[in-house]
This record gives sequence, C-alpha cells and structure tokens, in this order.
Amino acid sequence: MTHFHILDLDTMGQGVAKADGHITFIAKTLPNEVVEADIYRNKKNIHFAHVTEVITAAPERQEAPCPHYAQCGGCDYQHVDYPTELAYKQKALRRHLRHFPDIDITVHAAPQRWHYRNRIQLHYHADKKVLGLMDVNYEPLPVQNCLLIQEQVRDKMLALYQDDAWLELLQDEPKRGHLELYCRDEEVQVSVNEPYANGGFTQVFPHMNHYLTTWLSHQVNQYMDDDAVIYDLFGGNGNLSLPLGRPTVVVDQYGEHQPQDNDTQTFVSQNLYAKDALQRLQAAIPDDMQQPTCLIIDPPRSGLKNLKDFVSTFKPKAVIFIACEPTSFVRDIATCLEHYTLMKVDLFDLFPATQHYETVGVLVRNELV
Ligand SMILES: C[S@@+](CC[C@H](N)C(=O)[O-])C[C@H]1O[C@@H](n2cnc3c(N)ncnc32)[C@H](O)[C@@H]1O
Repeated sequence: MTHFHILDLDTMGQGVAKADGHITFIAKTLPNEVVEADIYRNKKNIHFAHVTEVITAAPERQEAPCPHYAQCGGCDYQHVDYPTELAYKQKALRRHLRHFPDIDITVHAAPQRWHYRNRIQLHYHADKKVLGLMDVNYEPLPVQNCLLIQEQVRDKMLALYQDDAWLELLQDEPKRGHLELYCRDEEVQVSVNEPYANGGFTQVFPHMNHYLTTWLSHQVNQYMDDDAVIYDLFGGNGNLSLPLGRPTVVVDQYGEHQPQDNDTQTFVSQNLYAKDALQRLQAAIPDDMQQPTCLIIDPPRSGLKNLKDFVSTFKPKAVIFIACEPTSFVRDIATCLEHYTLMKVDLFDLFPATQHYETVGVLVRNELV
C-alpha cells in the first residue's frame, strides 16, 4: 500500500498525485490530502488507484451521505458540500476553456442536490442474482436507496428488489445486461436491455431543464428579431425550442416515437452525423425556412465535429451550443472562431453530486458583436 499526496483535481474531479515518476489518478480525494490507495490500472507512467484510507483529510472533506459512496461509480462529489462541488466544476470548465482566458463562466446551481433524476440504469448479473449500479470495478453493486433518483423511481426500484422480482423480467435475456427505470408522465417504466432513455430522450433533471429552457428563451430573444427562424439540431422532442414560440425546425434521429409538428415546430427525422447530412437537411426543410437566424445545437457526448460546415452553410447570426462533454464543446466551437465570437459560457448543473454538467456557449457573428 502506497501513500499519495494529492496535488490537484483533474477535470473529472479525480485527485492527481505524483510518486516515483508516475502520475496517479485517485477519485474521491481532495487537494492537500494524504491517502492510501490501491492501484487498479497501470498504463505506462499513468496509474489509477482506489482510495482505501484518508490519512490527512482536507478541511473541506465531509462524510458522504450515501453509505455506498466509496464503492459506487455513480457519484463523484459527495465528500464535499455543494458549493465546493460547484467551485470544482467551474474550475474544471475553466481549464477546458484555457484558450479563452477572458470568458466569464456563469454557474447556475441546482435548487436541490438529491432526488432529482427521472431515470436510472441498473446492471444485472443473473447467475449471481445481483442487480445494481456499476461500482468502481464495473460490477453491479446493489444500492437500494440511491440518493440521486426521484422518489417514484426509488419506489419502483425497491419493488424490483423485493423477493428478487426483477429476475422475472429476464425471460430470454442474456445473463448480463441492464434495466432502465424511467419516469415519464408521472409513471415509471421499466425496460430491459434497451438503449439509453428508451422511449425518447428527456433531460434527467426536470426542474433544471425548465430553468435551462427559460434561460435559453431569454438568450434567443436578446439576439433575434421577431421573425427569426430557429433550427434546433439534436432537438429530441423539441424540449429546448418549444418555449420560444418561434418558427423552428427540430432535427433529430428519432426512433419510433417521432413527435408531431405543432404551431411553431416542424420536426425532421435525420441522422445529423451522416456524410450527406447537410444536403439532406436542406432538401427536407420547407422553402420558407431555409435561412435560419439561430442554430441551437445540443449533440450527444461525441459533439458535432463538423460544426463549421453547418455554420458556413446556414450563416446564422447566432449559435447556441449546448454540450454535456466539455472536451467536444471546446473542439467544436474552435472550428467556428474565424467568423464567430464566443460571447459567454454558462455552466448548468443538471447532474449534482457527479462530475457532469452542461456547458452552454453563445456564439455571435463577428460583424454583429
Ligand atoms: C443531449 S440529447 C438532446 C435532446 C434535446 N435537445 C433535449 O433537450 O431534450 C441529444 C439528442 O441527439 C439525438 N441524436 C443522437 N444521435 C443523433 C444523430 N446521429 N443524428 C441526429 N440526432 C441524433 C438523440 O436522439 C437525442 O435526442
């Protein structure tokens, strides 16, 4: 067992230590702490370790409210209070944005840190009769009272644990897999081995989602004339653009649950990562909506590498880019900076107690700044 002195946190909230020429990443530790840790992965000069004992604790360390915190892979920041978590998240985003030293980052805190998630994925090992969250070793860990999920979701989870009722859902299913519990329209649905957010994507934290969409409306109204046309790309069910009440084309690669057009939103079903995505999109969009004034873009974690192509084709006045992965956020917006200025960056905490957050950047055409 080795002692490690934690020097700093990385952008994923892991402690970083240097010892014997190696850099070691140790999750759930804090700067200035001395910890004992077990190395579980070893890649050249980079090690990854699990903390086994905190020898010298940082003043900001607190006892985690969840008894499973040390083993569970779900949360990253329960060992500090919420203001400290937000300060670390802001610092992490600041580091991602090191090439934009003058940009302010406004942090939007969540009103509650617990019981916010409307869905959870539980992993199972049928032979071992184990169902739970992925632990730090990527094995299912039974956690019957997860603090992140809404009460209805927790009640459903407890019912599945009762007498191992979940095993009955596994007719003809593989020995290992996952269940998803997803609260939509006040009802918790359970799906087995279906893709993430089965039935259509919604943000996991409904209250913060409402806050984000309201904020977004203010931004769009600030930069847009009354007759502006908006494109909501990776728009899902049109969540972000519905409150705008403006003519909008919502584009997403829907499954079987494609939303219906309404008074303001026109839905187009399309793979935006396809090679010919732009040509197809232009062909699918009604003639009177070919010239958008604003692009709202909210891709999955992989981002939109060819954002520049979308921007140079449509030449919008503004682009609002929303990203759950800050690395792709920085990579993608960097491609547009010849003609656009990054005006502001906002951090919305849609995932309290975890290392994740949403980054929102507003880009405006240079001649309008
Ligand atoms: C982060 S979610 C955003 C959804 C929506 N903006 C919202 O706020 O609810 C990303 C969306 O991208 C969609 N998506 C994933 N891959 C896609 C692709 N290749 N082409 C188009 N949409 C895709 C997903 O269906 C999902 O709705």
